Amino acid sequence: MEITKDIRYIGVNDHQVDLFEGQYKVPNGMAYNSYVVLDEKTAIMDTVDQHFTHEWLDNLQNALNGRQPDYLVVQHMEPDHSANIAAFMKVYDKTVIVSSQKAFEMMENFFGTSYEERRIVVKEGDSLSLGKHVLNFVAAPMVHWPEVIMTYDSYERALFSADAFGKFGALDVEEEWIDEARRYYIGIVGKYGKQVLSVLKKASSLDISMILPLHGPFLYKNLGYYLNLYQTWASYEAEKDGVVICYTSVYGHTRKAVEQLGEQLKNFNAPEVKVYDLARDDMSKAVADAFAYSKLVLATTTYNADIYPFMKEFIHHLTERNFQNKYIGLVENGSWAPLAAKTMKDLLANQPNLTFVNPVVHIKSALNDTNRQEIEDLAKVLCIDYVARDESRANKSDMKALFSIGYGLYVVTSNDGKKDNGLIVNTVAQLTDNPFRVMVSINKDNYSHHVIRQTGIMNVNCLNIEAPFKVFQQFGFQSGRNADKFKDEKELLRSDNGLVFLPRYINAFFSLKVEDYKDLGTHGMFICSVTEARVINNVETMTYTYYQKNVKPKPETQGKKGFVCKVCGYVYEGDELPDDFVCPLCKHGAADFEPIQ
Ligand code: FEO
Repeated sequence: MEITKDIRYIGVNDHQVDLFEGQYKVPNGMAYNSYVVLDEKTAIMDTVDQHFTHEWLDNLQNALNGRQPDYLVVQHMEPDHSANIAAFMKVYDKTVIVSSQKAFEMMENFFGTSYEERRIVVKEGDSLSLGKHVLNFVAAPMVHWPEVIMTYDSYERALFSADAFGKFGALDVEEEWIDEARRYYIGIVGKYGKQVLSVLKKASSLDISMILPLHGPFLYKNLGYYLNLYQTWASYEAEKDGVVICYTSVYGHTRKAVEQLGEQLKNFNAPEVKVYDLARDDMSKAVADAFAYSKLVLATTTYNADIYPFMKEFIHHLTERNFQNKYIGLVENGSWAPLAAKTMKDLLANQPNLTFVNPVVHIKSALNDTNRQEIEDLAKVLCIDYVARDESRANKSDMKALFSIGYGLYVVTSNDGKKDNGLIVNTVAQLTDNPFRVMVSINKDNYSHHVIRQTGIMNVNCLNIEAPFKVFQQFGFQSGRNADKFKDEKELLRSDNGLVFLPRYINAFFSLKVEDYKDLGTHGMFICSVTEARVINNVETMTYTYYQKNVKPKPETQGKKGFVCKVCGYVYEGDELPDDFVCPLCKHGAADFEPIQ
């Protein structure tokens, strides 16, 4: 088959293979591609699988049309491409093999010779001229073996890409490229995202008009589509919105939970829901989809004080391929000592950037009403963004949206004429830069508000991420009206306005003079000019999010029912939190409490 005037296809289709690489079902067979480049010199690009020696040699002979092959370029030594090297070298005894040093070492292992007398060893950046065609070699280690090279023909602008951009399926079967290419990539190359990204970076500097892989069709239209998909897959980014549910079920109860979850997900606008029974469906499809979609639910039974074997195998497939960047829901079933959810979570514990969503569905044998509610709640949480994007179903008055504003945390210091005072706030913003104007909003119940109203000055101390929890206790959990928050400081540092600034745990402070004041009901907004400003160090600013994640002690909520204070972690036990409840530790109101999950 002619690909261009000078490049011929001489590959073969395999419809006999039962399992590709001994594990992947290939219902539409497999193609082992090989090419000939005809110029003043001729080059053969790889051989094919051992079962097709004569068909391939016939194809080669026809393409050569009486000419002799000068070079056999071996890009990859896996036997589906290298099995016929020895047979070829016997038939064509003048041909020289062009390959990487590592590939020749592998030839010694496979064939008992590394062709020392008939070889050219190439590395990254080397080139080989055939006439007008020049073959430029690009190292592609671990995509997906260590010896792999790719070859760029600068005359045709063709990239011979070895296994990259390949797919399952013979070339005489028509099917869409993407699903079988994704299953092939995730299954075979998926572990090596970093190495694929490195090759893609090299490819981005080449002017490529066609990609000629060792499996699947050659690609010459819309190459950006394929390159972008590889970029997504290699970066472990979700390719599609939707939820994949992978489950095992012994007597059907877990399956029932999965069916109900699937329905609920659709009710809550999930754009796509894919369900895999890991004992019966093709596991490689489940693995590929687990990587492709943004959210994954794992549902299984506790079994032999572990989890069901098919789920264990599935999770192993995920972890060995660097599974990451996903939302995970868990459903467990266990009749007397359920621990499947914990086991699944533990198995995934080292995978980066997985977000486990609540609630976990805990089934004890068969579904009950609590489970049905858990399933609905899980679906709701998994679909929160899908519902929020929906014009008709979104909650358009969800003031929690304001929590997404990025806040720093600051200690505002003041002095009532008798003692120094300090208060934690997160509402500080620069309004203008000419002149510099800064806004500070303070709850009117706080003593500092009262003091600053009277004195018209304050210092804003910008906490850095080294500030420990005791700083928040010192300035946030007691009132300056009846406590001396600086009583334990041996030496107080003061700015030009006479107010203290913190000796440690801050990266900057600035002194403010109140220019304007706005009464906002619960709070007062001070609009201020800047009279002094000092940078203390370059340590990162403490944000509200950082505080919540890393500084605030984890509240002891295990086995408790009630509400927990998001500011200090105080736990209120009870079914209902009174609207006027005030945290006895940090004095924040009911709005800053959330239910214990
Ligand atoms: Fe197609 Fe890695 O062999």
